[in-house]
Amino acid sequence: MLDGRRRACLKAMGIDLWRTKSSGEGSAPALLDPVPLGSSAMPTGATKVEQPVVRTTAALDWDALEPTVASCRACGLHRTRTQTVFGVGDPQAALMIIGEAPGADEDRRGEPFVGRAGQLLTSMLAAIGLGREQVYIANIIKCRPPGNRDPHGEEADACQPFLQRQIELINPRLLLAVGRVSAQRLLGTQAPVGRLRGREHRFDPGDIPLLVTYHPAYLLRRPSEKAKVWQDLQSAHRLLHAQQSVPPAGAN
Ligand code: URA
Repeated sequence: MLDGRRRACLKAMGIDLWRTKSSGEGSAPALLDPVPLGSSAMPTGATKVEQPVVRTTAALDWDALEPTVASCRACGLHRTRTQTVFGVGDPQAALMIIGEAPGADEDRRGEPFVGRAGQLLTSMLAAIGLGREQVYIANIIKCRPPGNRDPHGEEADACQPFLQRQIELINPRLLLAVGRVSAQRLLGTQAPVGRLRGREHRFDPGDIPLLVTYHPAYLLRRPSEKAKVWQDLQSAHRLLHAQQSVPPAGAN
């Protein structure tokens, strides 16, 4: 039985449990076999650019990584940021959530997902019984792109060692990519979120299970997609607890 708090969270997300269950949408989608990934490999013949940050970042521990990010000037975004947005949560979290980039609120506060979309993300997590402090939340890039434009490829490239090191240090049991930019970047694909969600991928390096769902900012524009996100969260909950005998989120 769902407790009152989770029901309230689902209500905040706009999820109508009765409707989704009776229409069959409340049940978690089957996770398909892992698909081969890594299509982002550099084309043959391309010149490999040596980036010193890659070599040094891979050796950093938590204490050294955050100040390194804070002083980064590897791309032009350092000129317009208020501050870097490193990440927040439990450095030993089983679930790591990866969004796109800080927005205005995050740039001001130095913490990911604290604006309207972030509040929805927090409600979504609560719906599967997780507080923000129990997961780790980070972004593909650590500085706000001006005007909230999509990050450029070279900006994401410059930030990649930082995210990679965060993933290595956390070593989560599950990655959840929220939104197109995050999913496409982590999986090295151009496929839309609608085709990537609903099945288990693997993130390399590390062979870490990865699920994709819609970005909460998209849900604010398209609330009709919230039921799909609820399905994705149930899948995440099930994967996280696969080794334990806890009831699936939303089970009566
Ligand atoms: N959107 C994101 O992808 N990340 C944030 O931190 C905030 C909004």
